[in-house]
Amino acid sequence: MVKFKIKDESLAEEGFDALYIAERKMPVTGKIIRERFEKEKPLKNILIAGCLHITKETGVLARTLKAAGAEVALCGSNPLSTQDDVAAALVKEGINVFAWHGNTNEEFYENIRSCLDLKPNILIDDGADLIVTAHKEYPDLIQSIYGAQEETTTGVKRFIAMEERGLLKVPLIPVNNAKCKNQFDNELGTGQGIISAIYGMHVLFAGKNVVVAGYGHCSSGMALRARGLGSNVTITEVDPIKALKAKFAGYNVAPISEAIKNADMIFTATGCKNVIKKSDFENLKDGVILANLGHFDVEIPTNELKEYAVSIKTVRKDVEELTFPSGKKIYLLAQGRLANLVLAEGHPSEIMDMSFALQSLISEYIIKNKGQLKPGIIPVPEEIDNEVGFLKLKSMNIEIDKLTDEQYNYIHGFEEGT
Ligand SMILES: NC(=O)c1ccc[n+]([C@@H]2O[C@H](COP(=O)([O-])OP(=O)(O)OC[C@H]3O[C@@H](n4cnc5c(N)ncnc54)[C@H](O)[C@@H]3O)[C@@H](O)[C@H]2O)c1
Repeated sequence: MVKFKIKDESLAEEGFDALYIAERKMPVTGKIIRERFEKEKPLKNILIAGCLHITKETGVLARTLKAAGAEVALCGSNPLSTQDDVAAALVKEGINVFAWHGNTNEEFYENIRSCLDLKPNILIDDGADLIVTAHKEYPDLIQSIYGAQEETTTGVKRFIAMEERGLLKVPLIPVNNAKCKNQFDNELGTGQGIISAIYGMHVLFAGKNVVVAGYGHCSSGMALRARGLGSNVTITEVDPIKALKAKFAGYNVAPISEAIKNADMIFTATGCKNVIKKSDFENLKDGVILANLGHFDVEIPTNELKEYAVSIKTVRKDVEELTFPSGKKIYLLAQGRLANLVLAEGHPSEIMDMSFALQSLISEYIIKNKGQLKPGIIPVPEEIDNEVGFLKLKSMNIEIDKLTDEQYNYIHGFEEGT
């Protein structure tokens, strides 16, 4: 019997409409892989728990895992990113869902526990909270997990830290590090996502000073899109090579304390904390918009900003106007949480098609290699990464060249030179 705790079951019809839109844009996960899984049932009798943003795209993944024979349980990976209508539709389809928009931190962990109580065999995480909780509170379960997957950069970093300290007890595949994931999801998804998040503010990008903290996968994507809309973009970095790349790509590069003085919008996606410091608050420009797209709500110091403000007014859904003692007003999106998932619907479905194709095929890989995968971080198999690339091209009717034997031998040999 399906188990669930969601906001409102009566939202299911809207959820089915949302899923319908996503399905049509996710042919690799929702059609090519699903049709094979339906026939072969590679995940029969397997229980998969996913701590993921409960969006229409995650719904497509859940359907594909179910088509493969798995029982699926989902909890949200962010208190504000669950699409309640999608959650309701998935429950109607027999997916166990424990998630709703606006849960408290305590409820967030209760929902994780509800998934773990079902005794999953595979864990799919986005930010490491599911797997870390399993390590802390479910020692017997953790020994019996066949394999786990991590979807985002911050989660992978947490697992690297666990492994270095000898604490990682499951075979962990960092899906985030796949070429088909971080070069598309992080760069294109987040790049477009920041524009969608800001859209509701009806602000013109052209001519505005935009500061982007970081020049990694997500942040370089955001910088590119802001520049494309005519903004004057300044990058802040802590890595000299990334800073040079930004400079030679034509951006201004400056320390954050300098850069923010003229900023009309500030976007963060660094995976770091307190990117804007308390000492910088009074240097923020009147009217500045602050949006974080990094995984946790620590990049923009939300609590400190709110304590510093003399008044806070919600000016539209998920947008707060904070008035400072000096009278300056700043606009904080999504309480400092992932603005693209809170104010918009997360990455476009076409992008998530690739991320979730990887999750689907890696779930199959874990079962095929059950018992042979040792605890620790296991790189994404290159053949799976390339397969997703080929399937995505195929779904778009794009063909590419194939190396001849002569070419293959040339680029893998050393004999031929001048
Ligand atoms: N919003 C989304 O949908 C979404 C999607 C994917 C990833 N993420 C999250 O976004 C964050 C970034 O991911 P990524 O893949 O771009 O990581 P990345 O490692 O590619 O890039 C992060 C960059 O930030 C820089 N940096 C670190 N601390 C900094 C600081 N204090 N000031 C300025 N720059 C700093 C690093 O040097 C690096 O270049 C992570 O938290 C990740 O989990 C969010």
